[in-house]
Order: sequence, then structure tokens, then C-alpha cells
Amino acid sequence: MRLIVKKNYDEVSKWAADYIAGRINQKKERFVLGLPTGSTPLGTYKELISLNKAGKVSFANVTTFNMDEYLGLAPEHPQSYHAFMWSNFFSHVDIDKNNVHLLDGLAKDPLKECADYEAAIEAAGGINLFMGGMGEDGHIAFNEPGSSLESRTRIKTLTTDTKIVNARFFDGDISKVPSESLTVGVGTVMAAEEVLILVSGYKKARALRHVIEEGVNHKWTLSCLQMHPHAIIVCDEAATDELKVGTVRYFKDIEK
Ligand code: GLP
Repeated sequence: MRLIVKKNYDEVSKWAADYIAGRINQKKERFVLGLPTGSTPLGTYKELISLNKAGKVSFANVTTFNMDEYLGLAPEHPQSYHAFMWSNFFSHVDIDKNNVHLLDGLAKDPLKECADYEAAIEAAGGINLFMGGMGEDGHIAFNEPGSSLESRTRIKTLTTDTKIVNARFFDGDISKVPSESLTVGVGTVMAAEEVLILVSGYKKARALRHVIEEGVNHKWTLSCLQMHPHAIIVCDEAATDELKVGTVRYFKDIEK
């Protein structure tokens, strides 16, 4: 695992966008990109849009798979992850909408939707790079504490903690936050060739410590990264607050 420590959120976003653009540009054929929602990737999406507008990266040859979606929310719902992705990213770049994949929160048969999603990822040749964020409890996508580390795309109940954190998008009203989601599994993320996780702010410091310094553990599901051959976490200094000085020094040293 690599841990890249940047000074602040803007530097994290810039580094991540440059890295992703570089990876897309390296690949002659189609590039398959896994994508997250949340506040953390917003800066990276902005930077990727700028790079696209400046002609430094094209998404014409990119296929995307998003991590998750609220179960029961229509794609048109302003807080659906569909709406988030189109308003914050897809509408602003040269991606073909036929190459965009998001789980359907209104699927008549959610289990089939999940199985079909896994099949679509496989048919696309697997994910080259999965970008992700991390919940305050160390979750990846909606793989809440206790999730199987081998899980694949499925229905997942949200914890009260996650609903409280996400209530800010639903007028601060926890009762409006859906209780269930469709989410890729930890195993789905682990199957990607490469995983890039963005972490920002003091609120994530405790989880980052568990993910990096403690063992692989289903309570902090992002700790799965310790088993991934090509995993990068890019974080700001605030997020390192609970790491040992020696841990930060070590990761900085190997990046020199
Ligand atoms: C939700 C999403 C995750 C995301 C997390 C953190 O739980 N399902 O994919 O990583 O929020 O979001 P934020 O970046 O807003 O802290």
C-alpha cells in the first residue's frame, strides 16, 4: 500500500485527478473506472473536468461503474447517486452515456440488479482503477462494519451512524435518509487492478488509523486494502492526525 500525504484537500484532489488522467492516457484501449460519490471526490471531479476541457484527458474511451446507490430512490431524486454523478461529473465531460453504469435504486428485482452489475463489470473486462472515499467508520462504498470482506454487489442496510452523517444531504432529517442501499462488495473493489482512496479531514483520522495501523478487519472494511497488491490512499495532513509519527514518516520516506 502507498499512503500519499498532501498538505490539504485541494492538493489531494489535484494529485488524484492527475493520477487518474495519467492512467487513462496510458491505456490505448478502453479504460474501466470505478467511481464514488460523497463530498470528498468533488474536488477530484472538478479537476478531472478541467483536465478534460483543457484537452489533457478524454473520457470517450472510458467506461464507468459507480460504487453504490440508495435503494428506493429514483435516479431523478436530487439526492440519488445518479443525480450526483450527472450533475457533478458526467454532464461536464466527453463520456458516452452508454458507457456509464450506476445501480438502479428502483430496480424491480434488486438482487438481479446486483448480479447483473457484477456480470456487466466482468463483461467490461474488470475494473482497471477503482476510486473511492471512506466513511467515518472506515466503510468503503456502503460496506458497513461487519460486511464480509469477500462480498460482491448486494443490498446493504445502512447503520444509524451512516444515516446520521448523510442526513446533511436530506435537510438534516435522518428519517428521510434511505435505510438500504445497493453497493458493490468489498470483494468487488478488491478485484480491481488498482484502488485509489481519497481521505480528507480530522473526522476521518480515527478510521484511517484503523485502516492502516490495525489488522485487516471487517469492522473497518477499508482495511481490506492491506491485502490489495496495488492500493493507494491519498490523504491530507488533517486525516493523519491519529497515525503514529513513525507511520507517516515511513510512508513519506518511501515516496521520496
Ligand atoms: C457514503 C458513500 C461512500 C463515501 C462516504 C464518505 O457512505 N457511500 O462511498 O465514501 O459516504 O463520504 P464523504 O466523502 O462525504 O465523507
